[in-house]
Amino acid sequence: MTTPVLETRDLSIRFGGLVAVDSVSLHVDASEILGVIGPNGAGKSTLLNLISGLYQATNGDVLLNGVSISGRPAHRIVEMGITRTFQSSRLFNDLTVLDNVIIGMHSRTDTGVLEALLLPRRARRKLREAADHAGALLNSISRDLYARRNTLAGALPQADRRRLEIARALASDPQLIMLDEPSSGMDDRDTDALMEDVRRIMQERPGISFLIIEHDMRLVSALPDRVIVIDYGRKIADGLFQDIRLREDVQEAYLGQKV
Ligand SMILES: Nc1ncnc2c1ncn2[C@@H]1O[C@H](COP(=O)(O)OP(=O)(O)OP(=O)(O)O)[C@@H](O)[C@H]1O
Ligand SMILES: [Mg+2]
Repeated sequence: MTTPVLETRDLSIRFGGLVAVDSVSLHVDASEILGVIGPNGAGKSTLLNLISGLYQATNGDVLLNGVSISGRPAHRIVEMGITRTFQSSRLFNDLTVLDNVIIGMHSRTDTGVLEALLLPRRARRKLREAADHAGALLNSISRDLYARRNTLAGALPQADRRRLEIARALASDPQLIMLDEPSSGMDDRDTDALMEDVRRIMQERPGISFLIIEHDMRLVSALPDRVIVIDYGRKIADGLFQDIRLREDVQEAYLGQKV
């Protein structure tokens, strides 16, 4: 058996009286796309916040390549290879598309790139190298975005913002990318393009894995290799989507919503 890229063991967090994530054990293998579904408020984003080190678990452990990363600060966890996007956009709207990607790289470069961005007279060479690298990366995600690399991020339409967030997450050269509802606010056409982006990234970067929280069942049925269901903080199902979608407890978790 190979060691999973990511593993959580009995991961829990309590906010006062609420156990928002309740003893969740999961794994994501290399080159695997794990889907995470569950009703609103089930604890999905909180689970990501625990894995990415934004929240400290009340109980349990998070392992990256078999090594515990519990208690590490969030920026260390990015450096170690886990990156993410947020449910609500966190782009720097007043910076250009390219600069947003460069910011995603800062954990992979030595000091100075951020500084160089803020103090343009310093470290120009370093900044130019970073810009070349970020440009190549952006181009590999989307030629169209690359063509607009000098546009302010705040001026981009929603689907391109999501795409830019993924490009920025990729800039840290991660082993695992976690996406929190990447298709929200997208129509079917943009969602199809998003799925194509993910598939292309998997092809171009062998071994990279995704953990994707989603509500869009069209995406959930087509993209992930495997799906887990979270309900009231607990993992209630883990398997192929077609095997678990009609289970009574999974249906009940959605209270009659169509799964
Ligand atoms: N920092 C916090 N302090 C207190 N309660 C919190 C905190 N973060 C999350 N919660 C609570 O934990 C529960 C799970 O929230 P979470 O955002 O993880 O749900 P979700 O599954 O991502 O839902 P959605 O599908 O709506 O995004 C909710 O009841 C939420 O109010
Ligand atoms: Mg959420």
